[in-house]
Amino acid sequence: MSPIKSKIPKEERPYLDRLLDEIRYRISKVEDIDAAGQSIPRYTGEFWTSKQRQAHSLHEISYRACFKPQLPHFFIEYLTRENDKVYDPFSGRGTTVLEAGFMERNIIANDINPLSSLLSKPRFFPPLLEELMKRLDSIPMIENEDAEIDLSMFFHPKTEAEIVSMKNYLAARHESGEEDDIDRWIRMVATNRLTGHSKGFFSVYTLPPNQAVSADSQRKINLRMKQTPEHRDTRVIIYKKSRTLLSNVTTEERALLQQTGGNGRFLTSDARETKAIAADSIQLTVTSPPFLDVVDYVQDNWLRCWFNDLDAAETSKKITMARTLEDWSAVMFGVFRELYRVTKPRGFVAFEVGEVRNKKINLDEHVVPLGVKAGFKCIGVIINEQHFTKTSNIWGIDNNEKGTNSNRIVLFRKEKK
Ligand SMILES: C[S@@+](CC[C@H](N)C(=O)[O-])C[C@H]1O[C@@H](n2cnc3c(N)ncnc32)[C@H](O)[C@@H]1O
Repeated sequence: MSPIKSKIPKEERPYLDRLLDEIRYRISKVEDIDAAGQSIPRYTGEFWTSKQRQAHSLHEISYRACFKPQLPHFFIEYLTRENDKVYDPFSGRGTTVLEAGFMERNIIANDINPLSSLLSKPRFFPPLLEELMKRLDSIPMIENEDAEIDLSMFFHPKTEAEIVSMKNYLAARHESGEEDDIDRWIRMVATNRLTGHSKGFFSVYTLPPNQAVSADSQRKINLRMKQTPEHRDTRVIIYKKSRTLLSNVTTEERALLQQTGGNGRFLTSDARETKAIAADSIQLTVTSPPFLDVVDYVQDNWLRCWFNDLDAAETSKKITMARTLEDWSAVMFGVFRELYRVTKPRGFVAFEVGEVRNKKINLDEHVVPLGVKAGFKCIGVIINEQHFTKTSNIWGIDNNEKGTNSNRIVLFRKEKK
């Protein structure tokens, strides 16, 4: 493997040469694996790190199993040029599309969970803090307003009245067609701040924000922690979180994101059937699918769905929750067939499969044949290994714990027809 980089300017070089050169430059190990009756190279190295490139503040919305923006950034940088179309069929909080937006690419996001577009689209239309403050102040807060369900184990009555007032205001604006970008921003931040484990959330101490416990479990947490919900000023919390999210946003970025978001699409289809996407239109897909873990969508999202008048049970029926590798592979094969249809000839799919499952299932080896059967050529497997030192304090003694975070990505290309 040559560590020497080409002298031809990056922009003029073929996409894959650019990527493979970068990989060879940073590689620590390469091995060949057998998959789909072929020998596929598996490259391991520290190809991107959080240290090299700080993620933009606008990404900081939590979402279950989200990846870091550095991951899509790496593939977008080498496998696309400005105005190329970048897609994520399992978009989650929108990490791929937001990063692509910053990089002047066109975007399509899709996720069957309606909370996904609600949490990602508003970040393409970031408000100015002054206009946000004005709007927050204009929302009528009705005293003694309470939810039709018992939420007293999470919220102080005054906080609950504020949340219900906000919920009703947002619903009315939506129904009357008056809802605008600032309303949608408020909806996003409020949804993100409903429950959590610090004073930056509306609720008393509970699980971190991607999960929500049942009312009964919260009563038990309150008993165990000897806590009762105290008043939290919801508008101050929304303002503070917005200030953090907006802290890096420049005027140029604001204009750029508005343009990409305006031209972009946010779909809520099953990833196997995305009729709204034209054939042969996508230059690059960067995605991570739902894994084999069993997730309880209704339990995790009931409160967020309540706030947004969404039917959690309906969404739960549609979300892919495969219990066996066979079931998972069958769904993913359907996804690859659809990706093959929408990908441009010579376009790419970077499919992240996480770490080794249950210490024995290498999902990358199972994904290679699925993509190949759908028509793609497998270029290789890329494992990004990021080493970190975590300082933990146990009984007053500082302990430097060393660890590794790794992401496995299977890279495919659609060859010319
Ligand atoms: C691992 S998460 C993706 C996280 C994303 N990379 C991010 O950074 O936020 C997988 C996503 O797939 C979505 N999903 C599950 N089944 C789906 C399906 N059949 N079609 C489309 N999306 C689906 C889930 O709602 C979830 O948001």
